[in-house]
Amino acid sequence: MADTPDAEHPSALRLLATRLKRKMPGNGNGGRPHRLRYAHLIGWGKYLPEKVLTNAEIAQMVETSDEWIVARTGIRERRIAAEDESTATMALSASRGALETADLNPADLDLIIVASASPEHIFPATACLVQDALGATSAGAFDLSAACSGWIYGISLAAQAIATGSIDHALVIGAETLSRMINWEDRATCILFGDGAGAVVLGPSDRPGGVLSSVLGADGSGGDTLSVPAGGSRMPASPETVKNHLHTIHMDGRKVFRFATRVMRQAATEALEKAGLTMDDVALLVPHQANSRIIQSAARALKMPAERVVVNLDRYGNTSSASIPIALCEALEEGRVQPGDRLLAVGFGAGLTWGAAVIEWMAKPPLERPWRSRLRAVLYALARVRSRLRRWWRHLETWLFRPPAPGA
Ligand code: ACO
Repeated sequence: MADTPDAEHPSALRLLATRLKRKMPGNGNGGRPHRLRYAHLIGWGKYLPEKVLTNAEIAQMVETSDEWIVARTGIRERRIAAEDESTATMALSASRGALETADLNPADLDLIIVASASPEHIFPATACLVQDALGATSAGAFDLSAACSGWIYGISLAAQAIATGSIDHALVIGAETLSRMINWEDRATCILFGDGAGAVVLGPSDRPGGVLSSVLGADGSGGDTLSVPAGGSRMPASPETVKNHLHTIHMDGRKVFRFATRVMRQAATEALEKAGLTMDDVALLVPHQANSRIIQSAARALKMPAERVVVNLDRYGNTSSASIPIALCEALEEGRVQPGDRLLAVGFGAGLTWGAAVIEWMAKPPLERPWRSRLRAVLYALARVRSRLRRWWRHLETWLFRPPAPGA
């Protein structure tokens, strides 16, 4: 009988091709033919610094009052990073929490995205520092700059990479230390922002659910309404830029307010349409936490009752890219999200940018597996050792293998 290659009796050539394909980068599904894959949120974690800064304390620094701040913004207090904390350390703490609830080891991550408007440095990317500290040795890592919309941009990109099969697991973090980018003499901005981090792990599943749809938008013509003018290539740091507070947040609050109320409704509606759903299908609205009046206006426009809207800005202020994942984590911790619930996350920010995502929550409450947690603690300790050894080796390698002198 002739050797006809079919599904049950594949030819040797076909077997070889399959094995080679499995080894090729980007074949996150092991080279198997692509089936429909869904990107589920399987882990979540948050970090908030301990130090609380109240409105009353701010009123001692600038001419304002608790009444004014609460009436105009809804904010009562915010968290401020300690001296030894920064965007990377807070991102790391939130990430460990997310890996814990996902019960995943860092080496299983394929991609790390840190969305931040206050990254550790211009470069290296904060995501690379998190990758190293976690010991996520198989992950690519990059930072994403879309201000307060950054986390939605991040989950949108990660979900699509998972759905196509190019990766399996992604860690998407929103982390901010905005307290270091504020002019504490400017009452129009210093009352608004706070520090913190939130993270989620996304993973593949054959079961429908997870990130059902996302929409991303931008309008750079409004870039000047919300910006940090200096410190980039346009206006490098100089004594003048520092003296004139040009490394801090500058904002035209009224213009941002008007833009925000418009795009929140628009982005949310588009994301729902894309998912083939209506507002009645949504269990919880998780909006960017910038101003309670903006949130109320969006909720009213979307006909969403207040009890189905997550609001925590009274305690944390505006934590930019971290605000939605922190709000999501709190909603989960408070038992406000059940498997099968559909969530609508919507945000806006500097750029100007905006984004919305519809998520069908499929994750069950995490199981207690103490030995797996202990294993991860050991892996984090090993990651520190690995990082030191690699630095040490890089020094030694440079010393041992000097490049030949020109013309030698
Ligand atoms: N305390 C007391 N008075 C103040 C304060 C303050 N902290 N700040 C401003 N005022 C005064 C103003 O000087 C103004 O006085 P005037 O009428 O004599 O000129 C008056 O209060 C009203 O000012 P408005 O700017 O019109 O106040 P508004 O009601 O718009 O509230 C606010 C200001 C809270 C900033 C609001 O515009 C807002 O929240 N905008 C959106 C900001 C936002 O969401 N930014 C984050 C974007 S996300 C990101 O990407 C980082």
